[in-house]
Amino acid sequence: MSAHFRSKRVFELGHAGSLLVTILLICAAEALNSEGQHLLELKNGLHDEFNHLQNWKSTDQTPCSWTGVNCTSGYDPVVWSLNMSSMNLSGTLSPRIGGLVNLRYFDLSNNLITGDIPKAIGNCSLLQLLYLYNNQLSGEIPAELGELSFLERLNICNNRISGSLPEELGGLSSLVEFVAYTNKLTGPLPHSIGNLKNLKIIRAGQNEISGSIPAEISGCQSLELLGLAQNKIEGQLPKELGMLGNLTEVILWENQISEFIPKELGNCTNLETLALYANTLTGPIPMEIGNLRFLKKLYLYRNGLNGTIPRDLGNLSMNHLTGAIPEELSSLRSLIKLDLSINNLTGPIPSGFQYFTEMLQFTGGFPSELCKLENLSAIELDQNRFTGPVPPEIGNCRRLQRLHIANNHFTLELPKEIGNMSQLVTFNASSNSLTGRIPPEVANCKMLQRLDLSHNSFYDALPDGLGTLLQLELLRLSENKFSGNIPPALGNLSHLTELQMGGNSFSGQIPPALGSLSSLQIAMNLSYNNLTGSIPPELGNLNLLEFLLLNNNHFNW
Ligand SMILES: *[C@@H]1O[C@H](CO)[C@@H](O)[C@H](O)[C@H]1NC(C)=O
Ligand SMILES: *[C@@H]1O[C@H](CO)[C@@H](O)[C@H](O)[C@H]1NC(C)=O
Ligand SMILES: *[C@@H]1O[C@H](CO)[C@@H](O)[C@H](O)[C@H]1NC(C)=O
Ligand SMILES: *[C@@H]1O[C@H](CO)[C@@H](O)[C@H](O)[C@H]1NC(C)=O
Ligand SMILES: *[C@@H]1O[C@H](CO)[C@@H](O)[C@H](O)[C@H]1NC(C)=O
Ligand SMILES: *[C@@H]1O[C@H](CO)[C@@H](O)[C@H](O)[C@H]1NC(C)=O
Ligand SMILES: *[C@@H]1O[C@H](CO)[C@@H](O)[C@H](O)[C@H]1NC(C)=O
Ligand SMILES: *[C@@H]1O[C@H](CO)[C@@H](O)[C@H](O)[C@H]1NC(C)=O
Ligand SMILES: *[C@@H]1O[C@H](CO)[C@@H](O)[C@H](O)[C@H]1NC(C)=O
Ligand SMILES: *[C@@H]1O[C@H](CO)[C@@H](O)[C@H](O)[C@H]1NC(C)=O
Ligand SMILES: *[C@@H]1O[C@H](CO)[C@@H](O)[C@H](O)[C@H]1NC(C)=O
Ligand SMILES: *[C@@H]1O[C@H](CO)[C@@H](O)[C@H](O)[C@H]1NC(C)=O
Repeated sequence: MSAHFRSKRVFELGHAGSLLVTILLICAAEALNSEGQHLLELKNGLHDEFNHLQNWKSTDQTPCSWTGVNCTSGYDPVVWSLNMSSMNLSGTLSPRIGGLVNLRYFDLSNNLITGDIPKAIGNCSLLQLLYLYNNQLSGEIPAELGELSFLERLNICNNRISGSLPEELGGLSSLVEFVAYTNKLTGPLPHSIGNLKNLKIIRAGQNEISGSIPAEISGCQSLELLGLAQNKIEGQLPKELGMLGNLTEVILWENQISEFIPKELGNCTNLETLALYANTLTGPIPMEIGNLRFLKKLYLYRNGLNGTIPRDLGNLSMNHLTGAIPEELSSLRSLIKLDLSINNLTGPIPSGFQYFTEMLQFTGGFPSELCKLENLSAIELDQNRFTGPVPPEIGNCRRLQRLHIANNHFTLELPKEIGNMSQLVTFNASSNSLTGRIPPEVANCKMLQRLDLSHNSFYDALPDGLGTLLQLELLRLSENKFSGNIPPALGNLSHLTELQMGGNSFSGQIPPALGSLSSLQIAMNLSYNNLTGSIPPELGNLNLLEFLLLNNNHFNW
């Protein structure tokens, strides 16, 4: 009996032993470490249509060779960074992310992830970078995010995240860059924002953030860019902004910011862009703005500003400013855009626009002071009411590449100094009242690609030198009073795609050389002239040409 008993125990022992062996075997085969298991759980929550994560396998011991995973080196590697950007992943972000407590960089941007940002993200306490942008995340920003005291870059833009910015975000003491534009964020900016001493960039436009900008923002002493355009921010701009000496861009357009522009903004000496248009600001533009010597772009239109223009200005259109343009304007050496359209400004344009590099949409009389700007690359004065001649001093703008003065009332002859602008690429003087001959010096503008002198009263013969402008692609001379023969040299313009000479008094025969304009494609229009003779058969070579207009001449067909 006892023998039987003993034998039974032996059997039981044997059974237990084989179980043990089995367990050991399973452990050896499935020794994926815990971080790998967290990652597999993460993968389980995702739909990976394109199998980017196919090498994430439970049979590995560590996840360190998996796509998107980078580990620390050494005996016991841990997951240091996880980059699953642009993998077309959908599904949700599992709270198991909180298990990856060694994670420094996490990039899940450019996917189709839905659902919330899990609270557990607050567990990844070493995170320095968190990119969740360009997904379809919803829900609120978890307060736990504020626990990430090493986080430097947080980007959640282009999602559907709602709710207000939690006060806890003030705990992100290392934060440098906060990007959250194009979401559904509401509520005011947290007062704790002032704790973020390292914050350089706030970009949270296109949300529904409300309330006023807290005075505590002055604590963000590193702030360079404050971007909150297209929100519902109201109240006055805090004068404390003036304490942010590194601020270069303040972009607050399309909000409901009211009252006066604080003169303290003039203290932000590095400011380059101030965009406050489409708000409900009132009162004058503080003259302190004139201290902003690096200001390049100033947008104030669509507000209720009144008073006269102070020392500085930029895009002041759509306001109700009156009076003369102040002389001091010209001391703004960094200003590159000036748009005074849609105002009721009067008086002359001040002399001394010495330092502008580009001019757009200026209204008034021809600003011959522009001609002192030796480095100007473009003058665009189209569609204004400029009168009088184009001054010879234009020749000083030796670097000018674009001269657009179309649709004005310029009169008299073009100065021969046009020929001094050897960099000129496009010259459009159409629809003016210019007259006289085309100065032969135009042949020095060897870079010219587009020359449009149509709809003026130019007369006499064309200078032969036109045929040496070998870069010309467009030559429009139509609707003038040109006469004489068409210079055969025009046949050298091998890049010409469009030749418009209709509505003049050109006479003589069409030079057969025009048949070698092999790039001519859009049109050759010689109609309404006084051309005679027969049509040269060489024109038949222009096989790209879409429109050949020769009507209303005196050909012997
Ligand atoms: C991978 O992780 C190491 C730290 O272990 C880090 O130094 C390295 O820059 C990381 N490489 C990439 C591509 O993230
Ligand atoms: C993640 O990888 C993509 C390339 O797939 C790269 O463009 C991006 O910079 C990486 N993210 C981080 C935070 O390094
Ligand atoms: C993402 O999906 C689009 C279309 O669904 C596909 O054309 C593209 O190749 C995919 N890209 C990646 C990286 O999976
Ligand atoms: C948070 O991290 C701790 C270890 O630091 C871990 O024990 C815990 O499970 C983690 N919590 C979550 C939700 O992952
Ligand atoms: C402001 O910018 C300057 C120059 O880049 C830098 O030296 C200084 O540390 C910055 N100030 C703050 C508070 O970040
Ligand atoms: C203007 O800047 C100076 C230092 O540059 C600072 O002492 C002063 O407080 C600032 N004033 C305002 C109103 O911000
Ligand atoms: C500007 O408007 C305010 C009221 O909005 C008014 O009190 C002030 O007199 C106006 N100033 C000028 C110069 O028109
Ligand atoms: C100035 O304002 C007008 C009117 O809104 C706008 O069309 C134009 O682009 C602005 N000009 C510049 C230089 O921003
Ligand atoms: C300019 O003045 C006229 C009449 O003086 C007024 O009708 C018009 O609205 C004003 N335009 C602007 C933009 O203030
Ligand atoms: C024009 O450019 C040259 C060279 O870049 C520079 O030396 C010169 O000072 C500039 N002139 C003006 C008026 O800015
Ligand atoms: C045009 O150039 C010529 C020499 O190339 C020079 O003598 C003349 O002064 C220049 N005129 C202007 C207005 O720059
Ligand atoms: C046309 O040319 C002929 C000579 O070929 C000339 O007599 C006549 O005046 C010209 N007509 C016009 C309108 O230029």
